Amino acid sequence: IQDAVDTEFLIVGAGPAGAALACFLGSHGFKGIMISSASGTANTPRAHITNMAALECLRDIGLYEELERLGSTGEEHMQHTRWCHSMAGEEYARIHSWGNDPRRKGEYKLASPCEPFDLPQTVLEPVLVRHAALKGFKCRFDTELVSFVDDAKTGLITTTIRDNVSNHEYQIRTRYLFGADGARSQVVKQLNLPLVVQPDQGIAINVLVKTDLSHLVKNRKGNLHWVMQPDREHPHFGWMGIVRMVKPWNEWMFILFPDRDYDRSQSKPSKEEYQKRVREFIGDDTPAEILDVSTWYINEIVAEEYSKGNVFCLGDAVHRHPPLNGLGSNTCIQDAFNLAWKVAYVCKGLALPSLLSTYSMERQPVGHSIITRANQAYRDHHHVWEALGMLPKDLSARKEILQELKSATPEGSKRRRAFYAAIKHTSHEFHGLGIEMNQHYEGQGIYIVDEPHPYVPLGRAAEDIVLYHEPNTYPGSRLPHVWLNKATPEEPISTIDLAGHGSFTLFTGIGGGAWSKAAENIAEKLKVPIQAYSIGFGQDWEDVYLEWESVRGVEESGAVLVRPDRFVAWRASEVLYETKACEAKLLTVVQTILGHV
Ligand code: FDA
Repeated sequence: IQDAVDTEFLIVGAGPAGAALACFLGSHGFKGIMISSASGTANTPRAHITNMAALECLRDIGLYEELERLGSTGEEHMQHTRWCHSMAGEEYARIHSWGNDPRRKGEYKLASPCEPFDLPQTVLEPVLVRHAALKGFKCRFDTELVSFVDDAKTGLITTTIRDNVSNHEYQIRTRYLFGADGARSQVVKQLNLPLVVQPDQGIAINVLVKTDLSHLVKNRKGNLHWVMQPDREHPHFGWMGIVRMVKPWNEWMFILFPDRDYDRSQSKPSKEEYQKRVREFIGDDTPAEILDVSTWYINEIVAEEYSKGNVFCLGDAVHRHPPLNGLGSNTCIQDAFNLAWKVAYVCKGLALPSLLSTYSMERQPVGHSIITRANQAYRDHHHVWEALGMLPKDLSARKEILQELKSATPEGSKRRRAFYAAIKHTSHEFHGLGIEMNQHYEGQGIYIVDEPHPYVPLGRAAEDIVLYHEPNTYPGSRLPHVWLNKATPEEPISTIDLAGHGSFTLFTGIGGGAWSKAAENIAEKLKVPIQAYSIGFGQDWEDVYLEWESVRGVEESGAVLVRPDRFVAWRASEVLYETKACEAKLLTVVQTILGHV
């Protein structure tokens, strides 16, 4: 090994986590290198539900409209999750999904200027990689991280990289190394990050199929269809699976769960067996061509720490879980967004390196909560399977249960009640607005000294933290989205769009002019970007729906300071007695957050 390349930032992995991080660092004006051992971007669809929390991050760098055009949206494509005997056959039940429940639609609209959509990873990744490249991140595929040495004395990390096309090995020296290298992360392994590992829940087989099912979904629109056939025997495969829309309505992923005796090392189903199973799931003679077969594990793993020194891990490298609730790539993107501004501020000399320790402090609890939720969602399906008679090994016992489900007997009625309750409970998976939006941060990056009470979830979030999101400005919470207007007839703007873009933002209102002035002076003094906006009658922006008034959590003259990642850093209930006092207070807050105090 002789050659060496120098860079400030080396990202290992070009999946949702790595490519998003490159985009975000690029938005701060940084260039670097991103490598991927794969030969290109994702070759199977994998993640698809793209939630508002992740989209707000991508909106920050101007990618929302492009992705929205590429995605399959709302009522048209993601309206329901269904349970049925086959795609053409009997339907057992359906539930509204992903913000399309008429009773919940408004909550989604109120929560974000973005709308959730279905965007397969095969479509998302090329957009991110291209954007990162345009921003100055060199992307090298077929290029693998072999190992690295972190030299505390020089502050340089020397990595050994293998070009898998030429088999040539070389070194890249970097100041920051990012492990976005997925579930088998070499970076996590070498850092020896402690992992909390729960027993896995088995494996699943993804069969990607080209088949036009438009005639079957006309009145059964949805992107997830659980197919359950307790009255059939299927060698190799269990008697249920999921048919997931990839492209409406002619490309689908058939997710099969092998039966309990399935042993991968002993027997692999033949192409004909897959073909037969796919046909049985479709339920009529629609032609179907299998494009790909792959397997994945249903994991419950989270790292206890996400970083060591200047090596930071993100995405599946540090949290692994099943796709239920659709939290995977969404969480990867948000990890990257949380990390990027901190790295940028430290590299620009605006913050001290201690700010970087807040990355793990803030994102690890999120990782823990999402792996727990996704696995709980999977366990919750057991109640559906049980009620439908999926669990007994014996075929006649399963048939009997299915018969009972339809019978006019007390047992039948009890079973139906259990089935309906289990289906209704899956709203925690399909309308989990709370788990998507309620992340709450604590630690040095959040200033809570002025809060009279500790944080507790409020309103409906207190009732059910997974289902409901309660917008609020308690420091550490996501900035609430509110549409604002100018006095002149211009396009309305969201608080989400006013904030972010690499800058701190201070929101105040009538009587809070001293806060705006303080923000201006401190921005000048510390060279830290701080935008200030006054909201209210005759102010910079008008709160025409009176929404800001109801969520701002402070008096008209108070202040809400928001970090570049649009999480509330601090708030003041009202203006202080003189401008100097406002300035002194804001200075302490900003300096504390950036590690200067
Ligand atoms: P990812 O695994 O995508 O990428 C890792 C990258 O690192 C790759 O570029 C790889 O080549 C590279 N790499 C690995 N080792 C390397 C080395 N030594 N050197 C160099 N490069 C290396 N999520 C979601 O949000 N919504 C959803 O609906 C779903 N649905 C879903 C369905 C199914 C069937 C699966 C299997 C998964 C999902 N997911 C999901 C999860 C989602 O796919 C997953 O969370 C993300 O792909 C993880 O992104 P990362 O970037 O962290 O890793």
